[in-house]
Amino acid sequence: MKKTVRDIELEGKRVVMRCDFNVPMQDGVITDDTRIRAALPTIEYLKEHGAKIVIMSHMGRPKGEAKVEFTLAPVAKRLSELLGTYVKFAGCPVVVDDAVRQAASDLQNGEILLLENVRYRKEETDNDAAFAEDLASLGEVFVQEAFGTSHRAHASTAGIAAYIPAVSGFLIEKEVKYLSEAVNDPERPFVAIMGGAKVKDKIPAIENLLDKVDRLIIGGGMAYTFYKAMGYEIGTSLLDETSVDFAADLMKRAEEKGVDLVLPVDCVVAKEFDNDSESQICSRDEIPDDMMGMDIGPKSVELFKEKLADAKTIVWNGPMGVFEMPNFAKGTAAVAQALADSSAVTIIGGGDSAAAAQQLGFADKMTHISTGGGASLEFLEGKDLPGIAVIEDMEEPEAEPEEAAEETEAVETEAEEPETEEEEK
Ligand code: 3PG
Repeated sequence: MKKTVRDIELEGKRVVMRCDFNVPMQDGVITDDTRIRAALPTIEYLKEHGAKIVIMSHMGRPKGEAKVEFTLAPVAKRLSELLGTYVKFAGCPVVVDDAVRQAASDLQNGEILLLENVRYRKEETDNDAAFAEDLASLGEVFVQEAFGTSHRAHASTAGIAAYIPAVSGFLIEKEVKYLSEAVNDPERPFVAIMGGAKVKDKIPAIENLLDKVDRLIIGGGMAYTFYKAMGYEIGTSLLDETSVDFAADLMKRAEEKGVDLVLPVDCVVAKEFDNDSESQICSRDEIPDDMMGMDIGPKSVELFKEKLADAKTIVWNGPMGVFEMPNFAKGTAAVAQALADSSAVTIIGGGDSAAAAQQLGFADKMTHISTGGGASLEFLEGKDLPGIAVIEDMEEPEAEPEEAAEETEAVETEAEEPETEEEEK
Protein backbone atom coordinates (compact mmCIF):
# COMPACT_ATOMS: atom_id res chain seq x y z
CA MET A 1 0.00 0.00 0.00
CA LYS A 2 1.24 3.42 -0.96
CA LYS A 3 1.14 6.44 1.33
CA THR A 4 -1.44 9.05 0.42
CA VAL A 5 -2.11 12.65 1.39
CA ARG A 6 -4.26 11.22 4.21
CA ASP A 7 -1.15 9.85 5.88
CA ILE A 8 0.73 13.11 6.36
CA GLU A 9 0.39 16.34 8.30
CA LEU A 10 -0.59 19.09 5.85
CA GLU A 11 -1.34 22.21 7.90
CA GLY A 12 1.07 24.95 6.80
CA LYS A 13 3.11 22.52 4.67
CA ARG A 14 4.25 23.43 1.17
CA VAL A 15 3.43 20.55 -1.14
CA VAL A 16 4.60 20.16 -4.73
CA MET A 17 1.94 18.28 -6.62
CA ARG A 18 2.40 16.71 -10.07
CA CYS A 19 -0.78 16.58 -12.11
CA ASP A 20 -1.39 15.50 -15.67
CA PHE A 21 -3.08 18.56 -17.11
CA ASN A 22 -2.12 17.56 -20.64
CA VAL A 23 -5.63 18.32 -21.87
CA PRO A 24 -6.81 18.60 -25.47
CA MET A 25 -6.85 22.20 -26.68
CA GLN A 26 -8.07 23.95 -29.78
CA ASP A 27 -6.99 27.54 -30.48
CA GLY A 28 -6.09 28.06 -26.84
CA VAL A 29 -9.42 26.66 -25.60
CA ILE A 30 -9.61 23.46 -23.53
CA THR A 31 -11.92 21.03 -25.31
CA ASP A 32 -12.02 18.36 -22.58
CA ASP A 33 -11.22 19.16 -18.94
CA THR A 34 -11.64 15.60 -17.58
CA ARG A 35 -8.03 15.43 -16.41
CA ILE A 36 -8.34 18.73 -14.53
CA ARG A 37 -11.56 17.62 -12.86
CA ALA A 38 -9.94 14.31 -11.91
CA ALA A 39 -7.39 16.11 -9.72
CA LEU A 40 -9.91 18.34 -7.94
CA PRO A 41 -10.65 16.05 -4.95
CA THR A 42 -6.98 15.99 -3.98
CA ILE A 43 -6.47 19.72 -4.51
CA GLU A 44 -9.58 20.46 -2.45
CA TYR A 45 -8.41 18.12 0.30
CA LEU A 46 -4.98 19.78 0.41
CA LYS A 47 -6.62 23.20 0.52
CA GLU A 48 -9.06 22.24 3.28
CA HIS A 49 -6.19 20.84 5.33
CA GLY A 50 -4.22 24.07 5.12
CA ALA A 51 -1.44 23.05 2.71
CA LYS A 52 0.33 25.58 0.48
CA ILE A 53 -0.01 24.06 -2.97
CA VAL A 54 2.46 24.28 -5.85
CA ILE A 55 1.18 22.38 -8.91
CA MET A 56 3.27 21.19 -11.84
CA SER A 57 2.22 19.62 -15.13
CA HIS A 58 3.32 19.21 -18.70
CA MET A 59 1.30 20.07 -21.79
CA GLY A 60 2.08 18.43 -25.12
CA ARG A 61 5.63 17.88 -26.24
CA PRO A 62 7.38 21.27 -26.63
CA LYS A 63 10.75 19.47 -26.54
CA GLY A 64 12.50 21.77 -24.09
CA GLU A 65 11.39 25.05 -25.64
CA ALA A 66 9.06 27.69 -24.22
CA LYS A 67 6.48 27.60 -27.01
CA VAL A 68 3.40 29.69 -26.32
CA GLU A 69 1.00 27.13 -27.83
CA PHE A 70 1.96 24.78 -24.97
CA THR A 71 1.47 27.23 -22.10
CA LEU A 72 -0.51 26.12 -19.06
CA ALA A 73 -2.12 29.57 -18.71
CA PRO A 74 -5.55 28.30 -19.95
CA VAL A 75 -5.32 25.48 -17.40
CA ALA A 76 -4.75 27.95 -14.54
CA LYS A 77 -7.89 29.79 -15.63
CA ARG A 78 -9.99 26.63 -15.92
CA LEU A 79 -8.69 25.32 -12.60
CA SER A 80 -9.64 28.62 -10.92
CA GLU A 81 -13.16 28.32 -12.36
CA LEU A 82 -13.58 24.71 -11.27
CA LEU A 83 -12.27 25.32 -7.76
CA GLY A 84 -13.98 28.65 -7.34
CA THR A 85 -10.64 29.95 -6.02
CA TYR A 86 -8.01 32.08 -7.67
CA VAL A 87 -5.09 29.95 -8.85
CA LYS A 88 -1.88 31.95 -9.27
CA PHE A 89 0.01 31.20 -12.47
CA ALA A 90 3.80 31.38 -12.62
CA GLY A 91 4.19 31.96 -16.36
CA CYS A 92 7.97 31.58 -16.26
CA PRO A 93 9.63 30.31 -19.48
CA VAL A 94 12.31 28.47 -17.48
CA VAL A 95 9.66 27.09 -15.06
CA VAL A 96 11.63 27.88 -11.87
CA ASP A 97 13.53 31.12 -11.22
CA ASP A 98 13.92 33.41 -8.20
CA ALA A 99 10.53 35.03 -8.74
CA VAL A 100 8.84 31.62 -8.83
CA ARG A 101 10.72 30.52 -5.69
CA GLN A 102 9.54 33.71 -3.99
CA ALA A 103 5.94 33.15 -5.15
CA ALA A 104 6.04 29.62 -3.76
CA SER A 105 7.44 30.74 -0.44
CA ASP A 106 4.86 33.57 -0.19
CA LEU A 107 1.93 31.12 -0.47
CA GLN A 108 -0.49 31.22 2.44
CA ASN A 109 -2.28 28.11 3.74
CA GLY A 110 -4.77 26.89 1.14
CA GLU A 111 -3.33 29.01 -1.71
CA ILE A 112 -2.43 27.49 -5.06
CA LEU A 113 0.34 28.29 -7.53
CA LEU A 114 0.51 26.57 -10.93
CA LEU A 115 3.95 26.43 -12.55
CA GLU A 116 4.50 26.77 -16.30
CA ASN A 117 4.77 23.65 -18.50
CA VAL A 118 7.65 21.61 -17.05
CA ARG A 119 8.50 20.39 -20.55
CA TYR A 120 9.61 23.93 -21.43
CA ARG A 121 12.84 22.56 -19.96
CA LYS A 122 14.52 19.64 -21.67
CA GLU A 123 15.87 18.67 -18.25
CA GLU A 124 12.33 17.50 -17.45
CA THR A 125 12.24 14.59 -19.91
CA ASP A 126 15.97 13.94 -19.28
CA ASN A 127 15.07 13.40 -15.61
CA ASP A 128 17.90 15.79 -14.80
CA ALA A 129 18.85 15.65 -11.12
CA ALA A 130 19.51 19.40 -10.72
CA PHE A 131 16.13 20.30 -12.23
CA ALA A 132 14.39 17.69 -10.07
CA GLU A 133 16.09 19.18 -7.00
CA ASP A 134 15.06 22.68 -8.07
CA LEU A 135 11.42 21.56 -8.31
CA ALA A 136 11.69 19.76 -4.97
CA SER A 137 13.05 22.93 -3.33
CA LEU A 138 9.63 24.55 -3.86
CA GLY A 139 8.06 22.31 -1.22
CA GLU A 140 8.48 19.87 1.61
CA VAL A 141 6.40 16.98 0.28
CA PHE A 142 5.80 15.64 -3.23
CA VAL A 143 2.21 14.68 -4.06
CA GLN A 144 2.05 12.41 -7.09
CA GLU A 145 -1.30 12.74 -8.85
CA ALA A 146 -0.28 12.49 -12.52
CA PHE A 147 -1.42 8.95 -13.34
CA GLY A 148 -1.42 9.74 -17.08
CA THR A 149 2.31 10.51 -16.94
CA SER A 150 3.31 7.94 -14.32
CA HIS A 151 4.87 5.70 -16.99
CA ARG A 152 7.47 8.43 -17.65
CA ALA A 153 10.60 8.64 -15.50
CA HIS A 154 10.89 12.42 -15.73
CA ALA A 155 12.20 15.03 -13.28
CA SER A 156 8.73 16.08 -12.07
CA THR A 157 7.24 12.57 -12.02
CA ALA A 158 10.06 10.50 -10.54
CA GLY A 159 13.37 12.35 -10.06
CA ILE A 160 11.87 14.81 -7.57
CA ALA A 161 11.18 11.99 -5.10
CA ALA A 162 14.91 11.65 -4.42
CA TYR A 163 14.78 14.98 -2.56
CA ILE A 164 11.46 15.11 -0.69
CA PRO A 165 9.08 12.40 0.58
CA ALA A 166 6.49 11.27 -1.96
CA VAL A 167 2.84 10.41 -1.32
CA SER A 168 -0.02 9.82 -3.74
CA GLY A 169 -3.17 11.77 -4.33
CA PHE A 170 -6.63 10.22 -4.55
CA LEU A 171 -6.60 9.85 -8.33
CA ILE A 172 -3.46 7.70 -8.33
CA GLU A 173 -4.91 5.71 -5.44
CA LYS A 174 -8.12 5.08 -7.39
CA GLU A 175 -6.38 4.25 -10.68
CA VAL A 176 -4.03 1.77 -9.00
CA LYS A 177 -6.87 0.18 -7.02
CA TYR A 178 -9.15 -0.43 -10.01
CA LEU A 179 -6.48 -1.42 -12.50
CA SER A 180 -4.57 -3.71 -10.18
CA GLU A 181 -7.67 -5.37 -8.74
CA ALA A 182 -8.99 -5.99 -12.25
CA VAL A 183 -5.75 -7.44 -13.50
CA ASN A 184 -4.50 -9.29 -10.43
CA ASP A 185 -7.58 -10.26 -8.49
CA PRO A 186 -10.56 -10.09 -10.84
CA GLU A 187 -13.99 -11.42 -10.12
CA ARG A 188 -14.58 -14.05 -12.80
CA PRO A 189 -15.42 -14.48 -15.60
CA PHE A 190 -12.82 -11.85 -16.47
CA VAL A 191 -13.09 -10.59 -20.05
CA ALA A 192 -10.64 -8.25 -21.77
CA ILE A 193 -11.56 -6.41 -24.95
CA MET A 194 -8.62 -5.20 -26.98
CA GLY A 195 -9.00 -2.97 -30.00
CA GLY A 196 -7.26 -0.18 -31.83
CA ALA A 197 -5.23 -0.11 -34.97
CA LYS A 198 -1.97 -1.93 -34.40
CA VAL A 199 -1.42 -5.35 -32.86
CA LYS A 200 2.23 -4.39 -32.25
CA ASP A 201 1.27 -1.69 -29.73
CA LYS A 202 -0.84 -4.12 -27.74
CA ILE A 203 1.37 -7.24 -27.79
CA PRO A 204 2.84 -6.82 -24.27
CA ALA A 205 -0.60 -6.15 -22.77
CA ILE A 206 -2.14 -9.12 -24.60
CA GLU A 207 0.74 -11.33 -23.44
CA ASN A 208 0.21 -10.31 -19.83
CA LEU A 209 -3.58 -10.61 -19.98
CA LEU A 210 -3.56 -14.00 -21.68
CA ASP A 211 -2.49 -15.60 -18.40
CA LYS A 212 -5.23 -13.83 -16.46
CA VAL A 213 -8.41 -13.61 -18.53
CA ASP A 214 -11.13 -16.16 -19.19
CA ARG A 215 -12.05 -14.55 -22.49
CA LEU A 216 -10.18 -12.21 -24.82
CA ILE A 217 -12.18 -10.26 -27.39
CA ILE A 218 -10.22 -8.67 -30.21
CA GLY A 219 -11.74 -5.99 -32.43
CA GLY A 220 -10.78 -2.82 -34.27
CA GLY A 221 -8.06 -2.53 -36.89
CA MET A 222 -6.09 -5.23 -35.08
CA ALA A 223 -8.57 -7.91 -36.12
CA TYR A 224 -7.47 -7.80 -39.77
CA THR A 225 -3.98 -8.98 -38.87
CA PHE A 226 -5.61 -11.94 -37.13
CA TYR A 227 -7.78 -12.59 -40.22
CA LYS A 228 -4.60 -12.64 -42.30
CA ALA A 229 -3.12 -15.17 -39.89
CA MET A 230 -6.28 -17.26 -40.33
CA GLY A 231 -5.74 -17.23 -44.11
CA TYR A 232 -8.49 -14.74 -45.07
CA GLU A 233 -8.06 -12.04 -47.70
CA ILE A 234 -8.44 -8.62 -46.09
CA GLY A 235 -8.69 -6.31 -49.13
CA THR A 236 -7.10 -2.92 -48.40
CA SER A 237 -7.63 -3.20 -44.63
CA LEU A 238 -4.91 -2.23 -42.20
CA LEU A 239 -2.33 -4.99 -41.90
CA ASP A 240 0.37 -5.13 -39.25
CA GLU A 241 2.60 -7.41 -41.27
CA THR A 242 5.21 -7.86 -38.53
CA SER A 243 2.55 -9.20 -36.17
CA VAL A 244 0.95 -11.91 -38.33
CA ASP A 245 3.08 -14.66 -36.77
CA PHE A 246 2.34 -13.34 -33.30
CA ALA A 247 -1.40 -13.42 -34.08
CA ALA A 248 -1.18 -17.04 -35.29
CA ASP A 249 0.82 -18.05 -32.23
CA LEU A 250 -1.54 -16.22 -29.88
CA MET A 251 -4.55 -18.09 -31.24
CA LYS A 252 -2.74 -21.36 -30.66
CA ARG A 253 -1.65 -20.45 -27.14
CA ALA A 254 -5.10 -19.20 -26.20
CA GLU A 255 -6.53 -22.56 -27.17
CA GLU A 256 -3.88 -24.42 -25.16
CA LYS A 257 -4.58 -22.27 -22.11
CA GLY A 258 -8.34 -22.65 -22.44
CA VAL A 259 -8.83 -18.91 -23.04
CA ASP A 260 -11.78 -18.15 -25.28
CA LEU A 261 -10.29 -15.89 -27.97
CA VAL A 262 -13.10 -14.10 -29.78
CA LEU A 263 -12.69 -12.34 -33.12
CA PRO A 264 -15.30 -10.42 -35.11
CA VAL A 265 -17.22 -12.60 -37.58
CA ASP A 266 -18.28 -9.78 -39.86
CA CYS A 267 -17.20 -6.25 -40.63
CA VAL A 268 -18.21 -2.95 -42.16
CA VAL A 269 -15.95 -2.24 -45.10
CA ALA A 270 -15.52 0.93 -47.15
CA LYS A 271 -13.80 1.96 -50.38
CA GLU A 272 -12.04 4.96 -48.83
CA PHE A 273 -10.95 5.96 -45.35
CA ASP A 274 -13.74 8.51 -45.26
CA ASN A 275 -16.98 8.82 -43.36
CA ASP A 276 -18.95 9.30 -46.58
CA SER A 277 -17.28 6.54 -48.51
CA GLU A 278 -19.38 3.79 -50.09
CA SER A 279 -19.61 0.97 -47.55
CA GLN A 280 -21.17 -2.45 -46.96
CA ILE A 281 -21.36 -5.20 -44.37
CA CYS A 282 -19.64 -8.46 -45.18
CA SER A 283 -18.61 -11.66 -43.52
CA ARG A 284 -14.92 -11.86 -42.53
CA ASP A 285 -14.15 -14.34 -45.32
CA GLU A 286 -15.72 -12.16 -48.00
CA ILE A 287 -13.87 -8.86 -47.74
CA PRO A 288 -13.75 -7.38 -51.27
CA ASP A 289 -10.28 -6.76 -52.73
CA ASP A 290 -10.82 -3.02 -53.07
CA MET A 291 -12.37 -2.35 -49.64
CA MET A 292 -11.05 -1.85 -46.13
CA GLY A 293 -12.42 -2.78 -42.73
CA MET A 294 -13.73 0.23 -40.80
CA ASP A 295 -15.85 -1.30 -38.03
CA ILE A 296 -17.11 -4.60 -36.65
CA GLY A 297 -20.39 -5.78 -38.17
CA PRO A 298 -23.79 -6.43 -36.52
CA LYS A 299 -23.23 -10.19 -36.06
CA SER A 300 -19.96 -9.45 -34.25
CA VAL A 301 -21.78 -6.98 -32.02
CA GLU A 302 -24.25 -9.72 -31.05
CA LEU A 303 -21.43 -12.22 -30.52
CA PHE A 304 -19.44 -9.79 -28.34
CA LYS A 305 -22.55 -8.97 -26.28
CA GLU A 306 -23.10 -12.67 -25.70
CA LYS A 307 -19.47 -13.07 -24.60
CA LEU A 308 -19.85 -10.17 -22.18
CA ALA A 309 -23.20 -11.22 -20.74
CA ASP A 310 -21.94 -13.26 -17.77
CA ALA A 311 -18.72 -11.28 -17.18
CA LYS A 312 -17.98 -10.06 -13.67
CA THR A 313 -14.93 -8.00 -14.64
CA ILE A 314 -14.40 -6.31 -18.01
CA VAL A 315 -11.32 -4.37 -19.08
CA TRP A 316 -11.59 -2.52 -22.38
CA ASN A 317 -8.70 -0.97 -24.25
CA GLY A 318 -9.04 0.28 -27.82
CA PRO A 319 -11.98 1.08 -30.11
CA MET A 320 -13.74 -1.46 -32.35
CA GLY A 321 -13.52 0.69 -35.45
CA VAL A 322 -12.94 4.20 -36.75
CA PHE A 323 -15.27 5.64 -34.11
CA GLU A 324 -14.27 9.23 -34.92
CA MET A 325 -16.31 8.82 -38.14
CA PRO A 326 -20.01 8.54 -37.23
CA ASN A 327 -20.74 5.98 -39.96
CA PHE A 328 -18.14 3.63 -38.46
CA ALA A 329 -18.77 4.22 -34.77
CA LYS A 330 -21.61 1.70 -34.32
CA GLY A 331 -19.44 -1.22 -33.17
CA THR A 332 -17.60 0.88 -30.60
CA ALA A 333 -20.87 2.42 -29.42
CA ALA A 334 -22.44 -1.04 -29.06
CA VAL A 335 -19.53 -2.30 -26.95
CA ALA A 336 -19.69 0.85 -24.81
CA GLN A 337 -23.45 0.27 -24.42
CA ALA A 338 -22.87 -3.38 -23.46
CA LEU A 339 -20.42 -2.28 -20.76
CA ALA A 340 -22.79 0.44 -19.58
CA ASP A 341 -25.61 -2.14 -19.25
CA SER A 342 -23.41 -4.73 -17.55
CA SER A 343 -23.39 -5.32 -13.82
CA ALA A 344 -19.68 -6.27 -14.04
CA VAL A 345 -16.84 -4.09 -12.81
CA THR A 346 -16.07 -2.17 -16.00
CA ILE A 347 -12.68 -0.58 -16.47
CA ILE A 348 -11.75 1.44 -19.50
CA GLY A 349 -8.09 2.01 -20.29
CA GLY A 350 -7.54 5.65 -21.21
CA GLY A 351 -6.76 7.05 -24.62
CA ASP A 352 -9.09 6.23 -27.51
CA SER A 353 -11.53 3.95 -25.69
CA ALA A 354 -11.94 6.54 -22.92
CA ALA A 355 -12.47 9.24 -25.56
CA ALA A 356 -15.01 6.97 -27.29
CA ALA A 357 -16.93 6.36 -24.04
CA GLN A 358 -16.97 10.11 -23.36
CA GLN A 359 -17.91 11.07 -26.90
CA LEU A 360 -20.69 8.50 -27.08
CA GLY A 361 -22.12 9.54 -23.70
CA PHE A 362 -21.40 6.42 -21.62
CA ALA A 363 -18.68 7.78 -19.36
CA ASP A 364 -20.73 7.96 -16.15
CA LYS A 365 -21.94 4.37 -16.61
CA MET A 366 -18.51 2.79 -16.19
CA THR A 367 -16.94 1.69 -12.92
CA HIS A 368 -13.68 3.39 -13.81
CA ILE A 369 -12.28 5.21 -16.81
CA SER A 370 -8.56 5.63 -16.56
CA THR A 371 -7.10 9.08 -17.17
CA GLY A 372 -3.95 7.50 -18.59
CA GLY A 373 -3.63 6.19 -22.14
CA GLY A 374 -0.02 4.98 -22.31
CA ALA A 375 0.11 4.63 -18.52
CA SER A 376 -2.92 2.34 -18.30
CA LEU A 377 -1.63 0.23 -21.18
CA GLU A 378 1.72 -0.20 -19.41
CA PHE A 379 -0.19 -1.10 -16.26
CA LEU A 380 -2.06 -3.80 -18.21
CA GLU A 381 1.33 -4.98 -19.46
CA GLY A 382 2.23 -5.68 -15.83
CA LYS A 383 5.03 -3.09 -15.74
CA ASP A 384 6.14 -1.15 -12.72
CA LEU A 385 5.41 2.50 -13.50
CA PRO A 386 8.29 4.77 -12.37
CA GLY A 387 6.01 7.58 -11.20
CA ILE A 388 4.20 5.15 -8.92
CA ALA A 389 7.25 3.20 -7.80
CA VAL A 390 8.68 6.38 -6.19
CA ILE A 391 5.69 6.86 -3.88
CA GLU A 392 6.53 5.75 -0.36
CA ASP A 393 5.04 2.52 0.90
CA MET A 394 2.98 2.44 4.07
CA GLU A 395 4.89 1.02 6.97
CA GLU A 396 3.77 -2.52 7.67
CA PRO A 397 2.63 -3.03 11.26
CA GLU A 398 5.55 -4.51 13.16
CA ALA A 399 5.45 -8.29 13.10
CA GLU A 400 5.65 -10.03 16.45
CA PRO A 401 9.27 -11.04 16.98
CA GLU A 402 9.73 -14.76 16.46
CA GLU A 403 11.25 -15.31 19.86
CA ALA A 404 8.40 -13.59 21.63
CA ALA A 405 5.95 -15.69 19.64
CA GLU A 406 7.81 -18.86 20.64
CA GLU A 407 7.84 -17.76 24.28
CA THR A 408 4.11 -17.21 24.21
CA GLU A 409 3.67 -20.64 22.75
CA ALA A 410 5.93 -22.13 25.43
CA VAL A 411 3.96 -20.41 28.19
CA GLU A 412 0.73 -21.69 26.71
CA THR A 413 2.15 -25.21 26.53
CA GLU A 414 3.40 -24.98 30.11
CA ALA A 415 0.04 -23.73 31.24
CA GLU A 416 -1.65 -26.62 29.54
CA GLU A 417 0.60 -29.28 31.09
CA PRO A 418 -0.50 -28.97 34.73
CA GLU A 419 -4.07 -29.19 33.58
CA THR A 420 -3.21 -32.48 31.97
CA GLU A 421 -1.47 -33.56 35.15
CA GLU A 422 -4.52 -32.49 37.15
CA GLU A 423 -6.67 -34.45 34.82
CA GLU A 424 -4.37 -37.43 35.18
CA LYS A 425 -4.55 -37.21 38.94
C1 3PG B 1 -0.77 11.37 -22.18
O1 3PG B 1 -1.50 12.21 -22.70
O2 3PG B 1 -0.82 10.17 -22.46
C2 3PG B 1 0.12 11.81 -21.05
O3 3PG B 1 -0.08 13.12 -20.71
C3 3PG B 1 1.57 11.54 -21.37
O4 3PG B 1 2.00 12.32 -22.43
P1 3PG B 1 3.30 11.91 -23.23
O5 3PG B 1 2.94 10.68 -24.04
O6 3PG B 1 3.62 13.09 -24.10
O7 3PG B 1 4.38 11.60 -22.24
